[in-house]
Amino acid sequence: MKELELKFTLHVFENANELSKPDAELLEAAKNAMKDSYSPYSGFKVAAAVLLANGKTVTGTNQENAAYPVCLCAEATALSACSALYPDVAINKIAITVKSKSHVVNHPVAPCGVCRQRISEYENRFNNNIEIILMGEEGQVYSVNTVKDILPLTFTKADL
Ligand code: THU
Repeated sequence: MKELELKFTLHVFENANELSKPDAELLEAAKNAMKDSYSPYSGFKVAAAVLLANGKTVTGTNQENAAYPVCLCAEATALSACSALYPDVAINKIAITVKSKSHVVNHPVAPCGVCRQRISEYENRFNNNIEIILMGEEGQVYSVNTVKDILPLTFTKADL
């Protein structure tokens, strides 16, 4: 038996002002989209903004349902909108931000496991790493260069 130590690099920014201009703009687009979140059940708004390889930005927000399992994550609506509008265009970046009705979220919130898998599919589909930028309502910003950093040992088409 041997043990393998897996490492990944997390970029930590003290605030959004430290980001590059394109990353700051994408995060701003996500924050602007937050108003479209339909989250009456959780009171937890999530917004995602996707930067496509053609320079277009597509946003999505969580869309909840009285039948809870039907709820859609913000990443899912944003990525599905990309597929609907620009099916042949690769994705370069996704910025994700959150806001709670009950408290100020002062740390970055990472995508759920299912949404990591969704992002992974787009990386594989277009053979293109997707930078992920995360921020709460205030505080630090995290970024990773690829979803593989936060979803190691990913299940992909290569496993089928
Ligand atoms: N949510 C997202 O939109 N993205 C995630 O990655 C995690 C959770 C939403 C789903 C639900 O509407 C609310 O956050 C609370 O779970």
